Amino acid sequence: MPVYKAAIFDLDGVIADTARFHYLAWKKLADELGIYFDEKINERLKGIGRMESLEIILEKSPRIFSKEEKEFLAEKKNGYYKEMIEKITHQDLLPGAGELLCTLKDWGIKIALASASKNAPLVLKNLGIAGLFDYVVDAARIKKGKPDPEIFLVAAENLGINASECVGIEDSAAGIEAIKRAGMFAVGIGNPEVLKNADIVLRDLKDFREILKLFCGS
Ligand code: BG6
Ligand code: MG
Repeated sequence: MPVYKAAIFDLDGVIADTARFHYLAWKKLADELGIYFDEKINERLKGIGRMESLEIILEKSPRIFSKEEKEFLAEKKNGYYKEMIEKITHQDLLPGAGELLCTLKDWGIKIALASASKNAPLVLKNLGIAGLFDYVVDAARIKKGKPDPEIFLVAAENLGINASECVGIEDSAAGIEAIKRAGMFAVGIGNPEVLKNADIVLRDLKDFREILKLFCGS
């Protein structure tokens, strides 16, 4: 097995419990519109962009929405989401995430963020971990969302590390596919059934020794 030189993290649902806030914000919007939405449908939203997520929610609506209406609705959801992330602090890091990031930093491993969220810089700032990242991909500049590998390849390129020497860490099926298509080692965080294409799956980051092993010797 190669010794990896960089770790490229997803944010929502991996480092912070913000996937929950995305769900709650979409749920609030869907309830207002009278559209059925549940955690199962939400699974398809993980890792993909805001407008693509809205399209999936609107599949259950008999009404056709104009482009302007969709933009308004996406902005409304983002307002709800922003209210929720406004008050997050270091305490909102998922268990193990802070320790893993600090250990990788101490070991000299390059760290990047590959999140589809345009709110990622604010979340990192509020969590107090922005300084640990060598590179944060600007989601607004990514042309093709996950499962396309673009976001992970952009992260690797900006770190100056070959994709084959990178480990991607993700909680969504779309994200795992993106990592594999980028030619990286994929660590899934969450349900092994959803993340079956990952190279390894951990329930959470509480026991991150399996991840550290990938970087041993570098
Ligand atoms: C991803 C989430 O990280 O970011 C998705 O998994 C979300 O659920 C996407 O839709 C876009 O986020 P934002 O904050 O730009 O609306
Ligand atoms: Mg995620």
